[in-house]
Amino acid sequence: MSGDLQQQARQHLWMHFTRMGSYAEHEVPVIVRGEGCYVYDEHGKRHLDGLSALYCVNVGHGRAELAEAAKAQAQELAFYTNWSYAHPRAIELATRIAALAPGDLNRVFFTSGGSEAVESAWKLAKAYHAARGEPRRHKLVSRRLAYHGTSMGALTATGLTQLRVPFEPLTPGGVHVPNTNSYRWQEDRDPLWAADAIEEAILFQGPETVAAVILEPVQNGGGCFVPQDGYFQRVREICDRHGVLLISDEVICAWGRLGHWFGCERYDYEPDMITTAKGISSAYVPLGALIAGDHIAEPFLHGKATFNHGFTFGGHPVACAVGLANLEIMEREQLNEHVRENEGAFREMLDSLGDIPIVGDVRGAGYFHAIELVKDKGTKETFDHEESEELLRGFLSGELYRRGLICRTDDRGDPIVQLSPPLIAGPEQFEEIEAILRPVLSEASARMERWSSLSRA
Ligand SMILES: Cc1ncc(COP(=O)(O)O)c(C=O)c1O
Repeated sequence: MSGDLQQQARQHLWMHFTRMGSYAEHEVPVIVRGEGCYVYDEHGKRHLDGLSALYCVNVGHGRAELAEAAKAQAQELAFYTNWSYAHPRAIELATRIAALAPGDLNRVFFTSGGSEAVESAWKLAKAYHAARGEPRRHKLVSRRLAYHGTSMGALTATGLTQLRVPFEPLTPGGVHVPNTNSYRWQEDRDPLWAADAIEEAILFQGPETVAAVILEPVQNGGGCFVPQDGYFQRVREICDRHGVLLISDEVICAWGRLGHWFGCERYDYEPDMITTAKGISSAYVPLGALIAGDHIAEPFLHGKATFNHGFTFGGHPVACAVGLANLEIMEREQLNEHVRENEGAFREMLDSLGDIPIVGDVRGAGYFHAIELVKDKGTKETFDHEESEELLRGFLSGELYRRGLICRTDDRGDPIVQLSPPLIAGPEQFEEIEAILRPVLSEASARMERWSSLSRA
């Protein structure tokens, strides 16, 4: 069976963002089962899921309650669409989300994932401005290295050159500004420099052409960039000053990832819209949402006004039923509180790796952290492309998995190892993570040292 799966995967499965050629020499990692913080591969080997299956499975794997919720809903009403019709679970989940979301964010437009939510938010921003007599406002400001998805609109917001360039021309109107990664900032730089850069960009573009700014509470792309104190307050002021909407992209940062229902609560700002997905259903089924303020929905609530946009599966009853059951688990088990109580220990464990020569920076919040790997800690010099390839793909990725830890190694910005465990993780899992990360990162340091001296010779 196992041999068949390997063979069939190689022949028939198109894996996303994957160098499929590499599986000519290596096994395709096939995950067959999950339980709590752990998943099991086809050989029965247990792995600690330090990435929550791509920041998704917030309540952990193997929850029968979520499977039961899906089953019950599929039996009662498997599907009806949200185009012109409603059904109880979509109404109930929208109501629940509205009660949890900050400020006047009371109106929920369901999607099946994050890219669809981002796509919808940008379109809604344009439609909102047009409905209010400002049809020229169409541009979307986002940050360099940020990942907002891959559909053409979301990709325009994405600030990763290597993902964008092959698919250009993209949707017109994308504008990119600096992010909040301060690891290499000169010491005398104004801490709100990156926020002010947004205003500069808006002024340069002409505020009357700018629809929205889209930002994650903690930026995933580049490795868990946290905002400076006061950053979001400054951005909110800037957006208000220029009539630009603020979209908080919380595809990762909501649903407890930062110890709150929404990431914007942690940093105390109120966006005009939130985009989300992943942890909303703990990914037991695909679900995403755009949550809009009452003031954003208002122009669409009268007469013949319509937001001419939708997806067949947005608000799928089975997904909404699972979403409701997922939020119930989060509340019953107080997972936001659990993250807030344990994030200190998680961070301490990661900080303790700082004595390893390649560990340059540790950053993040809640259960969402990255370790940036550097060639020289003193100068903060990063690895070049070839070195990073050797470090991440030649060694770290495979070795961490081999030893039973799933985390993310990424060099779309500077090379990082990223961890984002299920919210039920605690000291026992942190110990396990350290027991794997420490020897592997130490060995990676020694290898890179040897590799650099060989290339110098
Ligand atoms: C912040 C953010 N926005 C959007 C997306 C796109 O979501 P999806 O892959 O569900 O389309 C992601 C995916 O990781 C994300 O992290």
